[in-house]
Amino acid sequence: MGISIGLVGLGQFGSVFADMFMSHPLVDRVALCDREPERMTPFAEKESWRAKLRPTDLYGSLDDILSTDLDALVVITQPWLHAEQCVRAMEAGKHVYSAVPIVCIPDGEEILEWCDRIVETCRRTGLRYMLGETTYYRPQAQFCRRMAAQGLFGDFVYAEGEYFHDVDSPDCNLRVVQQLRTESSSGQEWLVQSAKYRERGAESGPMHYPTHSTSGPVSVMGAHALKVTGYGYRNRNGDDHFGGEISNETALFEMSNGAVVRICEFRECAGELGLDGETFRIMGTQGTFRENQWICNHRDVPPADASRFERVSLTDEEMFEPLPPEVAEAFKAALGMEGEGDFIPSGHGGSHPYLVHEFVDAVAHDRHPAINAWEAARYMAMGVMAHQSALRDGERLAVPDWGDAP
Ligand SMILES: NC(=O)c1ccc[n+]([C@@H]2O[C@H](COP(=O)([O-])OP(=O)(O)OC[C@H]3O[C@@H](n4cnc5c(N)ncnc54)[C@H](O)[C@@H]3O)[C@@H](O)[C@H]2O)c1
Repeated sequence: MGISIGLVGLGQFGSVFADMFMSHPLVDRVALCDREPERMTPFAEKESWRAKLRPTDLYGSLDDILSTDLDALVVITQPWLHAEQCVRAMEAGKHVYSAVPIVCIPDGEEILEWCDRIVETCRRTGLRYMLGETTYYRPQAQFCRRMAAQGLFGDFVYAEGEYFHDVDSPDCNLRVVQQLRTESSSGQEWLVQSAKYRERGAESGPMHYPTHSTSGPVSVMGAHALKVTGYGYRNRNGDDHFGGEISNETALFEMSNGAVVRICEFRECAGELGLDGETFRIMGTQGTFRENQWICNHRDVPPADASRFERVSLTDEEMFEPLPPEVAEAFKAALGMEGEGDFIPSGHGGSHPYLVHEFVDAVAHDRHPAINAWEAARYMAMGVMAHQSALRDGERLAVPDWGDAP
């Protein structure tokens, strides 16, 4: 028997995931929830949804869907809402998937308190929490975790993770995103709440949305941050979008495995440094990954020999792990890709179908998902403490950690 799942938030991003969650072979029943009812209509009217969506399973509020007997909720609401909604979902007995980040609000202490509450609620209730971090399932991250599992990096020495997303990016303009997120009822409420944070002097920064840059190095190395030194570039042209706050942040971390990690979160920058604005590089004593290349010296097989150096360029297809065939087929049909040959994963580097599959499979098989509460808290704590350090002129600060999932 499959699971039942409710999709909360069918805005710009949630609507991209809806067909895949509905069509997953381990999902028997799907429900929809949005405070803007017209955002549910395109799915409710689809013929392909009839078998799994009951006409009574359309909800106009989180309170209403919390009182159902659904097994799990997928929360893709605005970033300032996730944490509280996810805790409420688990308190109501439901497993929960959250869009990234765990929460994004101007007060860093409050973000850490929410990380603590999410971990504590998971531990106490035994329910599953998953953060839908797209970088985790990019092909590069999948490939590097396989190399790491075989010990082929040797000792990890250094890593870089970065998210370069200029506010006026032609691919995704952050001013437009912000306008769309604040035009709904929940968005209008946030305009009032966020002013209160500003009145009491809480200052946000790009490191409060750090999961795209931190998750690559952390998930591949299986290590967490111990200490951080952060630096910021404060907007200098009076741009309303930044309100005089820091727009670019860089941090250096001492990690639990002895490696050093450099993280950048930039929102005011021309272009990117590598092949992609959202990427990472990792260097070990025996293996290095950078810009879709794997370089290794095979020093794990003595004696050391310069002729064994190898540099391999990799395609996405070579780096991806295969999805179960029945899942790939279901997604192909749901996305209208039938008759197009092999299923090509798409969305943020091809991560979207993997995120959907991981959550559904974890709930159906009663296991913690890969990006569980403990793992997700690591990505967040790095950003929060990097921002604290930047606000304190680079003071070296300890980074809290909640340990591994039990
Ligand atoms: N690469 C990535 O991982 C990535 C990319 C884009 C967006 N996101 C995340 O996705 C999330 C959603 O972004 P978006 O652009 O789709 O926002 P959006 O404003 O377009 O959609 C949010 C929806 O949630 C609904 N909502 C809010 N509170 C609700 C409640 N209590 N009950 C029912 N519905 C509620 C709103 O009505 C709205 O329709 C954000 O948190 C963002 O950080 C992640």
